[in-house]
Amino acid sequence: MYAYVLAAPHFHLGLAQAEFCAFTGCTTTGRIGLAPVAVDISRAAFISSCVHVAAAGTSLDEVCADARAKGLAWEGFHIQTFCPGEGSLFTSLEPIIRAADAIAGRPNLSSPRVRLALIVSGDLWALGPIISTYRSDWPAHERRPHFFSGSLPTRFSRAMVNLVASPGNTLIDPCCGVGVALIEALACGVEAYGCDINPRMAAQAAENLVSLGLPQRVFVADARGIGGRYDAAVLDLPYGRNVGVGKGLYGDLLGTLRTITRRGAIVAARDLSGELEEVFGFGVVHHVEVPKTTMVRHLHVVAAVE
Ligand SMILES: C[S@@+](CC[C@H](N)C(=O)[O-])C[C@H]1O[C@@H](n2cnc3c(N)ncnc32)[C@H](O)[C@@H]1O
Repeated sequence: MYAYVLAAPHFHLGLAQAEFCAFTGCTTTGRIGLAPVAVDISRAAFISSCVHVAAAGTSLDEVCADARAKGLAWEGFHIQTFCPGEGSLFTSLEPIIRAADAIAGRPNLSSPRVRLALIVSGDLWALGPIISTYRSDWPAHERRPHFFSGSLPTRFSRAMVNLVASPGNTLIDPCCGVGVALIEALACGVEAYGCDINPRMAAQAAENLVSLGLPQRVFVADARGIGGRYDAAVLDLPYGRNVGVGKGLYGDLLGTLRTITRRGAIVAARDLSGELEEVFGFGVVHHVEVPKTTMVRHLHVVAAVE
């Protein structure tokens, strides 16, 4: 069994849980996800660590007893504690010292050969080696030249990409704005393309990509008329006066989306689940509400239904 640590502020917890599901196929309602598979989470937005659960129990006593019973042994280990969402549980070093005493082998705090995690979440205590961590490269992408008040946050965009695409997939962002999702997709090894009806936006997206050393695959187009086939799409629907939401625009954009991909992550200012299922032939796999200061973003992860 493997334990995944979700590192997300409370307003992004739903996104983190959806990202965990996309990586492992399992679900969680908390800040720790359990899955029978080990997955490389280096490109994750909100999953900080994947831990092999070598010993477990419902208390510190039990997890230590399990570690002893299994004869767990590591030379040169270092134990890091994870108590997501319940930060005050580890107020002393005692749990770490007791867990270390239950392991055969010597610790090495300055240059460890093995990094172990001691996790406590609800009544689960787990101990084992950390086998994958996120590389957290997305903050560096905030040093791009162009920003836009309607852009999605960088970390949100990274999760959105991960919800629908894997490295090597093709992806389209048909309303790419200044290219935040394109940057995250390309940084994850996804073959991403973007377009925007506004030439200034498309030009700024292209400059953002070039400034970060990423391939520039942005074109100016009305997304209602684009063609081709892509493994996945991310679509941050236009809203507000500045982007001019015309009558029927959503319908035209979503109808086109359905013809060019079978998998999408769609953001809107309202819940579109009903329309996506009844009108456009998508099944809604996840619907996550993400609060923004003065509004709520609705993220829909959809898959085509035949
Ligand atoms: C909410 S913004 C997307 C912001 C983007 N996610 C970002 O991070 O910068 C919506 C974008 O859709 C574009 N847009 C509006 N109508 C469009 C259409 N028919 N075809 C393509 N782009 C369109 C707007 O110019 C705007 O850049």
